[in-house]
Formats: sequence, C-alpha cells, structure tokens
Amino acid sequence: MIYKIRKICCIGAGYVGGPTMAVIADKCPQIDITVVDINKERIEAWNDSDLSKLPIYEPGLDEIIKRCRNRNLEFSTNIKESIAKADMIFISVNTPTKKKGFGAGQAVDLKWVEASARQVGEYARGKTIIVEKSTLPVRTAETIKNILQSVNKNNKSSKYFSVLSNPEFLSEGTAIKDLENPDRVLIGGEDIEAIEALEEIYLNWIDKSKVLRTNLWSSELSKLTANAFLAQRISSINAMSALCEATGANVNEVAEAIGLDKRIGKNFLKAGPGFGGSCFKKDIMNLIYICNLYGLHEVSNYWQKVVDINNWQQHRISSKIIRSLFGTVNEKKLGIYGFSFKANTNDTRESPAIQICTDLLEEGANLHIYDPKVTSIQIQNELKIKHSENLDYCGKWTYEKNYIDAAKDADAIVIITEWDEFKRFNWHEISNIMRSPSWIFDTRCILDPKDLEKLSTNLWQLGTSNKD
Ligand code: NAD
Ligand code: UGA
Repeated sequence: MIYKIRKICCIGAGYVGGPTMAVIADKCPQIDITVVDINKERIEAWNDSDLSKLPIYEPGLDEIIKRCRNRNLEFSTNIKESIAKADMIFISVNTPTKKKGFGAGQAVDLKWVEASARQVGEYARGKTIIVEKSTLPVRTAETIKNILQSVNKNNKSSKYFSVLSNPEFLSEGTAIKDLENPDRVLIGGEDIEAIEALEEIYLNWIDKSKVLRTNLWSSELSKLTANAFLAQRISSINAMSALCEATGANVNEVAEAIGLDKRIGKNFLKAGPGFGGSCFKKDIMNLIYICNLYGLHEVSNYWQKVVDINNWQQHRISSKIIRSLFGTVNEKKLGIYGFSFKANTNDTRESPAIQICTDLLEEGANLHIYDPKVTSIQIQNELKIKHSENLDYCGKWTYEKNYIDAAKDADAIVIITEWDEFKRFNWHEISNIMRSPSWIFDTRCILDPKDLEKLSTNLWQLGTSNKD
C-alpha cells in the first residue's frame, strides 16, 4: 500500500522552493502545502495581494499563485507548526559556497541545511519523509540522517525519518515549464515506501517513464554532474568564440554546424558573456572540492578549467570594450542593457554583468544601467560586494528606468542580457542620440547586423568577425 501524503512542508521559499511547491499545489489539489522561510519579508512578498510584488519573477508563476494561494498553498514563517503537521518535508534552502574557513571558495556552506535538519528533528512528529531538493554535496543525506538521529537520541516520542534525494533541474526563466514538463524526475533513496510516496505525487502530472530511481549517492552526484556538463558546454563554445573572432569564423554558424550532429545536439551552445546564476559556478567549485578530498586532482583540474574560461570570457569582453574606445573609458558614459544573469528572471546572482561592470568601473567609466526586471537595490548590493572585495573603482553608476536615458550621449551600449525587448528597441533612435564615434557591444548576438547596417554606430558581436 502506498503511503499517502496529505501535508507537505517546504523549508525555503526561494527560486526553487516557491515555484516547485506552486506547481505541486496546482497539480495536486488534494495535498496541503506550506512553504516556510526564516526571511519574513520574503514570505510577506509571497503573500502580497499585488502579484507583481512576488519575490521572484518567473513567467506563469503569478497565475499559479493566484489559483492556489489560500486554497492548498500557503506561505508562512511558522516553521515549527508547519513541520509538525507535515508527512513530507522538502529541504530547499540555499547552499552557497563557503566564504571563509576550511574549503573557502570551493566547499558548500551547509549551515542552512544543518539548521533545517535540526528543525525537522525537533519538530516533526510520527513518520516523516525528508526530501533533499537543494543541490548538495554527494553523501549529504548521511549527514542529515546523523543529525536527525542525534537530535532524537533523548527524545522518547516515536519519530521515524526517511531521507530521499530529489534534485531539481529547473532553469530560471522557464521554471514553470520545466516543472510541468521535466525531462526526468530523479529519486534517490533506499526506503521503497518513501520513494513510492514521492513518486505518487509526481505521477499526478508526469508520466511514470520519466521517473528515474537510483541510490542516494548517484542522485546527489547526478545533479552536480548535470550542472558541470552544462557549464562545460558553455565554456567550450565561449572558448571557440574567441577563436572565431581571431579567424573570421562566426561562432553562431559553428554552433549550428556542430549542433546538427545528434551526438553533440544543439542546446547549450549559445556563446555569450559566460555563465552566471547561483548554481553553475558553485556546483563546479563543490565538485572540485570533493575531487580533491578524494585525491582526484586531475579530475578537479579538469573542471577548474571550465570556471577559468568563464572568468576569462568576462574580462575579455571588458578589455575589448576598453580597447575599442581608444584604450580608455574614464569618465565616458556607457549604457548597460541587462543586469540579470539571463533573460526572463530578476535574479542577478553571479551575473556576468557584475564582473563586466566592475571592470569598467575600475577603469573610471560612468555606467547607466537598464534592466526590465532588476531593481536598483539589487545592482547596488551586487556591486557593493565586489567593491568590498578591495576592487577600488573610481567610476560611478546610475540606474535608468528607460533605455533611451541610458543611451543619450553614451559612447557605447553594452548588451549583457538577452532580453527579448532589446531586439525591438528603436536602434535607429539610439544610434542618433549617442556620442560619435559610438559602439554597440552585443555580447549575446541578439541583434541582426543587417538592421543596423545603415546606422553610424559600430557594432561588435561576440564570436563574429567584426569590423574593428
Ligand atoms: P534561495 O536563496 O532563493 O532560497 C533559499 C531560501 O531558504 C531563502 O529564502 C532562505 O531564507 C531560506 N532558508 C535558509 N535556511 C532556512 C531555514 N533554516 N529555515 C527556513 N528557511 C530557510 O535559493 P534557491 O535558488 O531557491 O536554491 C535553493 C537550492 O536549490 C540550492 O541548493 C540550489 O543550488 C538549488 N537549485 C537552485 C536552482 C535555481 O534555479 N535557483 C535550480 C535547481 C537547484
Ligand atoms: C541551470 C541549469 O540549466 C538547470 O538545469 C539547473 O537546475 C540550475 O542551473 C541550477 O541547478 O540552479 P539556470 O542557472 O537557471 O539553470 O539557467 P541556465 O539556462 O542554465 O543558464 C545559466 C547561465 O548560462 C546563464 O547565464 C545563461 O545565459 C548561460 N548560458 C546558457 C549560455 O551562455 N549559453 C547557453 O547556451 C546556455
């Protein structure tokens, strides 16, 4: 008989916890779901009646929240009560790279996972299935089990825990689509009853053939491996983008040509300013740390190169901009189009824009930043972190609410995020209001050079043979 799940608690109301639970609530009206967080403002934003104020921008999310909130989906700071009532608890907390101490810069800081496990150990009642949704170092389930056991050593009440790994593969910007129609659902674990209970939830909208069961450690490691492979493809095509520029080839044509080979495939071959986002770098650094821990230094060196190329690509773009503007951007106005790490998200974590802007600010540039979804405070926080890392820059930046103000009298526009609306901008008008000789640096190759042919502006597109 399948163990029926009636109440779910998700710890962590972030980019994964929020959308994932929203989709489960939408597809499973028979299950009550509470998403809890220690961040009061975030929970308030999830509960805001004005859906444009949700803490996360994700296409399609607002409609689901509208349907499910106050029906079978709730956002709360009452962690104790929500855990106590739940049959199944998803841990979906942040797992950033450690900033100091042993393993700083590589290992994952597990303090939020440990805190969650302790909360579960303390407040859960009866049989509870714990699902690792966060991306975790391989063998973390063992740590969680140990914590649960030790918290309960002196506790006489009958508690029984089962730990499963169920990594999330959604991409930001397409999270709802990915959750509604995933390529696969991976469940790692030993307890068949618990695995079937979790599988049963997904079977409400996903075909059984897409559910893959593995052991715990394969599941945990598959998530790190998937992200490392995806990031590796981006670094591979970005490495080729530099060679294309040097040789007169066009990286988009090369990507298309190789992508038609079914063994290579066409996805994830878009050259750009390097991968950003909260996970690729963090997960590869973690993989590097784990490899070193097991003495596999050649393996860790291999993955380190993927990150090195990514950093190099960002500096390469900054350097290209400076060289094109007669070797100096000091006190020059530059319009920056896009600050999020990719289109259709307001997430700025590890965005390539941070490094490129910092490089230009260090050179004294006067940046005017426009992004349709990112707020001024987010930009301030991201650039402040860099600033505090002793990168003492002398330039300044201004937040612009519209793209025309960002372009007026600018020497250059730098497109860093591939927002669709940028393609529809009036580039003729932009070109007319810029200071001559002006430049457009299109790091995402979103513009059609033919449309800009008649303009006086110089166009540089990443990975193509440009007029210099
Ligand atoms: P996030 O920072 O947006 O959200 C995590 C939330 O957990 C925060 O709001 C934080 O306040 C909360 N939290 C931390 N400790 C808590 C505790 N003890 N009790 C209650 N709440 C607590 O992070 P995210 O982007 O949602 O990522 C979460 C995990 O999912 C990470 O491991 C990440 O690697 C993984 N992941 C992320 C994505 C993505 O697209 N962002 C995709 C797949 C997997
Ligand atoms: C990525 C993975 O795609 C998800 O499967 C995974 O669940 C998630 O990380 C995670 O673990 O957090 P995400 O970071 O949201 O998702 O977005 P991606 O679409 O993978 O893009 C990551 C970065 O790579 C972006 O900066 C994007 O612009 C860049 N990218 C992506 C390229 O430069 N070229 C490409 O061809 C694809």
